[in-house]
Amino acid sequence: MRKLLLLIGLAVSALLLTQCRSGRAAKTQRHLNYVSDIQPLVANKCTPCHIPDKGGKVEALNTYTSVKSHIDDIIRRIELNPGEKGYMPFKKPKLSDSAINVFKQWKTDGMLENAD
Ligand code: HEC
Repeated sequence: MRKLLLLIGLAVSALLLTQCRSGRAAKTQRHLNYVSDIQPLVANKCTPCHIPDKGGKVEALNTYTSVKSHIDDIIRRIELNPGEKGYMPFKKPKLSDSAINVFKQWKTDGMLENAD
């Protein structure tokens, strides 16, 4: 009886372990990229000010190169709170945690331009 319980215990742990593994693998499968993840967010949240086509007059953030070269400043500014010096998006509500995480994850993933 003891042995049987031990076996069942082992089987259950093995099952849980494999499920954890596959869950983690699924999460890290896709790397964020500029075209699918960053550009739509900037176009939506940083317009019109940073989009020259829309009449933006400050630093253009409408290209892969410009966003990439400003990524640290972007992350720093969007993590500030409204009213703090340098806060972005200027005079607009703070981005959601998930939107902020998209910028951070994109940086972690190596700032790809297109889907890999
Ligand atoms: C309503 C207009 C407006 C919006 C919307 C806005 N910004 Fe800005 N942004 C400004 C202004 C004005 C400045 C210049 C003043 C300053 O540096 O704080 C600026 C400066 C910046 C800079 C520094 C650029 C440089 O010259 O080095 C960054 C980076 C930036 N914004 C990021 C963002 C991001 C990311 C968003 C969207 C999430 C955003 N901003 C939305 C108006 C805006």
